Amino acid sequence: MTERVFSGVQPTGNLHLGNYLGAIKRFVELQQRFECLYCVVDLHAITVWQDPAELKRSIREVAAAFLAAGVDGEKHIVFNQSQVSAHAELAWVLNCVARLGWLNRMTQFKEKAGKDRENASVGLYAYPNLMAADILAYRATHVPVGEDQKQHLELARDIAQKFNNDFSASIAELGLDEKFFPQPEPLIAGPATRVMSLRDGAKKMSKSDASDASRINLTDDADQIAAKIRRAKTDPLPLPESIEGLKERPEADNLVGIYAALADSDPAAVLAEHGGAQFSQFKQALVDLTVARLSPITAEMKRLVADPGHIDATLASGAERAEAIAKPTMDAVKDIVGF
Ligand code: ADP
Ligand code: NA
Repeated sequence: MTERVFSGVQPTGNLHLGNYLGAIKRFVELQQRFECLYCVVDLHAITVWQDPAELKRSIREVAAAFLAAGVDGEKHIVFNQSQVSAHAELAWVLNCVARLGWLNRMTQFKEKAGKDRENASVGLYAYPNLMAADILAYRATHVPVGEDQKQHLELARDIAQKFNNDFSASIAELGLDEKFFPQPEPLIAGPATRVMSLRDGAKKMSKSDASDASRINLTDDADQIAAKIRRAKTDPLPLPESIEGLKERPEADNLVGIYAALADSDPAAVLAEHGGAQFSQFKQALVDLTVARLSPITAEMKRLVADPGHIDATLASGAERAEAIAKPTMDAVKDIVGF
């Protein structure tokens, strides 16, 4: 079986350092080892209200971020979810496989729906089933995501298994592999699987945080990055000499983790170099590293967005090639289900 990677990013504006370190940077690295599909998941985006013109702009911006960071849209597949009908079609079938009780346990729904749960869209509730469809339509074997998506990925594994079990007789009858849907493996590793807000060490860095100072956007310039890192919340102690000293110090842990991820290093090595330093000093080193790593990506994103012909062509070709993989899966699913 082909080892295949699928992952997605929502076009909901404000792409940030957490998206880069937790997802996009890993996308680039995985291209060496896997056949990769990287998706702008616009169907997911509309689970909460999106302004149509802003959504259109944002779709191109996410595709631009993939390409600017080093995703190869010719060797691999970069596409937009709504352009391949298998996602929505398979999601419906999986809506009928997943159990209400399983979805009731999803913590992200509770966070995103907030107090006014009765007024959340049905799509926001069923979101994890669509995510399962995204992965399973390609029978992807590996899914790089941040820590926040771990629970959804476990659900996708449960759905795959239940589908294979529920329809085992039909799958056998058709002479198909009894593990029709493989169990997708999460790829969650490294020092930045959960980048935290720069203003609150208990909250993850997020597109939807009302405070722009809480995150470093991939569109921020060097001055904005410097100002945000200098203002980042820290405790008054110097950096510890070893990683044990980061326990109970979430802000310090976060900044060291970001540094390590950007430097392709690990927190222990970062502390071996910077342990004992005051935060004022370490923050300057972090500013320099962040600007060095992000500014070429920001510049390339700007260039690509200014002339969207290339992005649009990449997305169109990606959708065609994605469709060629997903369509046979969907045809087989219809057969299996009895359509
Ligand atoms: P957001 O949660 O900011 O709306 P998405 O849901 O589009 O972003 O997530 C895109 C990818 O970025 C996912 O793989 C997700 O796990 C990852 N990601 C999002 N926020 C963070 C974070 N703070 N730290 C690490 N990875 C993150
Ligand atoms: Na997320």
